Amino acid sequence: MTEPSATFLLFGATGDLARRMIFPSLYNLLSDGLLPDDFLIIGSARSDMTDDAFRAEIDAALRQFLPADRYDADIATRFAAMIRYQAVEAGNAGQFATLADRIDGRLERGLSVYLSTPPSLFAPTAQGLSDAGLITPTTRIAMEKPIGKDLVSSRQVNDGIGHLFVEEQIFRVDHYLGKETVQNLLALRFGNVMFEPLWNATAIDHVQITVGETVGLEGRVSYYDGVGALRDMVQNHMLQILSIIAMEPPARMDPTAVRDEKVKALRSLRAMTAETVKSHSVRGQYTPGAVQGQIVTGYADELGQSSDTETFVALKAFVDNWRWQGVPFYLRTGKRMPTRQSEIVIQFKPVRHSIFGRDGQHGAGGTGLEPNTLVIRLQPEEYIRLQIMTKRPGLERQVHLEEVTLDVSLTAAFAGQRRRIAYERLILDLLAGDQTLFVRRDEVEAQWAWIDSIIDGWKEAHMKPAAYSSGNWGPSAAIALIERDGASWHD
Ligand code: BG6
Repeated sequence: MTEPSATFLLFGATGDLARRMIFPSLYNLLSDGLLPDDFLIIGSARSDMTDDAFRAEIDAALRQFLPADRYDADIATRFAAMIRYQAVEAGNAGQFATLADRIDGRLERGLSVYLSTPPSLFAPTAQGLSDAGLITPTTRIAMEKPIGKDLVSSRQVNDGIGHLFVEEQIFRVDHYLGKETVQNLLALRFGNVMFEPLWNATAIDHVQITVGETVGLEGRVSYYDGVGALRDMVQNHMLQILSIIAMEPPARMDPTAVRDEKVKALRSLRAMTAETVKSHSVRGQYTPGAVQGQIVTGYADELGQSSDTETFVALKAFVDNWRWQGVPFYLRTGKRMPTRQSEIVIQFKPVRHSIFGRDGQHGAGGTGLEPNTLVIRLQPEEYIRLQIMTKRPGLERQVHLEEVTLDVSLTAAFAGQRRRIAYERLILDLLAGDQTLFVRRDEVEAQWAWIDSIIDGWKEAHMKPAAYSSGNWGPSAAIALIERDGASWHD
């Protein structure tokens, strides 16, 4: 790691992500004393604007997106003083030269560039930076998703950046890695003695990863249609979660050790085929319905035409290695679900032999013995719950068992701590040059290789999305996907 960058240059500075996440995160870092006094933030987009007009826009965004008690007029004034604006259009050498002038004298103290633009602009922007002399060994570049729409196009995007920057300078953002709860998976697995010995096919029956959203298209028609839930959520966020759950213990918490293990897990994902997608995947698209009491329209109505894009996907995946042989990983994500709920469920196997009754299970003659379940809730609440068996108090001759929950509420345990925006962690790490929570090129490619196998399977098998009413957990086939195996989704 080198000295933190003294300058932050954001392309796509008038976009939604910048207003909602990036500027509020920078503001929070400043307010917590984590940015140097002479830090410079340059926003860049196509439209012409003065520094002051841009500062006013950012101030409005802070007021809109920061919690009311977080906005402080004095800090906002200090923040505005750090901000400049420079219009730059890809391919306009004159504008890049002006940009370079504005950074003059600061370059040797490090420049972090953040690309929050459509990926088609990544390579031309990097070229413009290079031509203007803005790429030095202390320049870093961060890129937002989507990095391509398949393996081939992701390689083109990575090549476009990769011929101007070395991998150590490239920071691929997956904002899920900036979430405390996702980082906490590492602490849970590798900071406790009791989980790791059981974290394998001997003790675990299956794993579920759910990321449910209540929102629909939210005006993102031009981006979302033709992309769909598999590319939008599974290719990145869900596979990153899966890789952290499935990976071998890294030797240490450093970027190479952690990412080496994640990529091995990702490469072990069993590719799907036109045959297996039929039983191992479900595509859905929402139709009108009600979400949390609100009547909402269907995807096709929002779009203004019919479409084959899925807004829900459920998958049964296998990580084909020694540790996970035969353990299904059920993944599901969708828009317009009944609740916003992201969680991981580790379903353990039953005890090997029940001393409490012949079958040891619920039902006639049974004692209520259930296998243990570990639930890790990522959002909206943050908790870890372990369902364990205990004896029901009483004098009955036969022991009756009952499930109770060991409940660790992280929200309550750390009640005094402000919940941070995922981008705060990521921007701080970018400035410091720590790549641990950023996605390496080989990870992106392993992710796409698996996703491509599903998309190819869908095409070959002519699998179209099935309808589901908004406010449901996807089409009924998603329930069948897991229930066929004798399990059920943890709702
Ligand atoms: C983004 C997707 O990457 O993640 C969106 O493009 C999705 O479609 C969002 O809504 C979900 O993020 P979070 O942090 O709200 O779970």
